[in-house]
Amino acid sequence: LENAVGRKPALGYNTWNAFGISIDEDIVKATAQRMIDLGLRDAGYVYLNVDDAWSEPVRVDGKLIGNRATFPSGIKALADYVHSKGLKFGIYSDAGSHTCAGFPGSRGYEAVDAQTWADWGVDYLKYDNCFAPASDWIVDRYVAMRDALNETDRPVLYSLCEWGVADPWLWAPEVGNSWRTTEDIEPTWSSILKILDYSTGLARFAGPGHFGDLDMLEVGNGELTLGEQRAHFALWALFKSPLLIGADLRTIHPDSLAILKAREVIAINQDELGVAGDLIWQQGASRVYAAPLAGGGRAVVLLNLHTPGGQYVVSNISVSWEELGLPAGTPAAVRDLYATADLGTFTDSFTAEVTAHDVRVVRIVPLGGLKHDSWRPWF
Ligand code: DGJ
Repeated sequence: LENAVGRKPALGYNTWNAFGISIDEDIVKATAQRMIDLGLRDAGYVYLNVDDAWSEPVRVDGKLIGNRATFPSGIKALADYVHSKGLKFGIYSDAGSHTCAGFPGSRGYEAVDAQTWADWGVDYLKYDNCFAPASDWIVDRYVAMRDALNETDRPVLYSLCEWGVADPWLWAPEVGNSWRTTEDIEPTWSSILKILDYSTGLARFAGPGHFGDLDMLEVGNGELTLGEQRAHFALWALFKSPLLIGADLRTIHPDSLAILKAREVIAINQDELGVAGDLIWQQGASRVYAAPLAGGGRAVVLLNLHTPGGQYVVSNISVSWEELGLPAGTPAAVRDLYATADLGTFTDSFTAEVTAHDVRVVRIVPLGGLKHDSWRPWF
């Protein structure tokens, strides 16, 4: 969607994965403060988004208002607070009669709700897909809110939460700034792999202003090992997914925090070229994902799917220049982006040891750049 925002994947926080419907204004305020104190705002995470269950159970005078028990100061005051912390404020609604948690939805109220949010200073809207009448075509429902947002003077990043329904890659790029590729994420390795596989092959449909959304991050949640969290974060970054933190920032483990703050991995996600990564090679339990970067570099994620503790605790995984669209013999500097360490200059291929359920993330930059670089991971 061409609306002056969302030219890069959104970086921020969303309340859902950590808190579900148990949210209130104190949690949101504490999260804002933690985003600053933990250095997340400075790392680029600027959106603070409230998910489902912020409103009164019914409209008041035809309008949405903040829940009187849990958001007693009102949403405008909360948005002002979030802005005063140098963050942007995001809200949530639904393209049906009700949100998934049963609060009022915006279908039929698009204009009045868009204006309400503009008046509150909302910067981001996540728009869910529950309780839609079957007769009501999904594209029409999402277009109606796009047009209503457009009618207000406020630029609002419009995040479609259509769960990958109705082949969104075919229509959503013109409707929203991001579109969900699948149903909901869970903090398990199997969920992460499922979303990854589902999102494979969709890179060609993403780009500046219309990124595929692999769903909010589970880094720091559930029983994911650190290797699994590294893999999850790096692959989401490479796919140019919005990166929305979903852990409780009051209690997040320092190792998970360090993953979320991996500066050079975030930089892949925010690269100026805005081309999503995709799968370029696989054999057995070894996979290579890659994306082109502005200036002729490549971001590469080497993934080992072997079961930890098994026979293949470590695999050597290689990527060739040919697979990356680089002329053979081209000297290129290779850098490990989690370790923030230069690994040397290579001329035809690069090989690394990768631990089971973990990744190595590297940037490969041809010395002297590339003359004509049109390589994409889908050809
Ligand atoms: C479904 C969405 O996909 C989730 O991300 C979350 O917003 C819930 N609905 C809230 O009810």
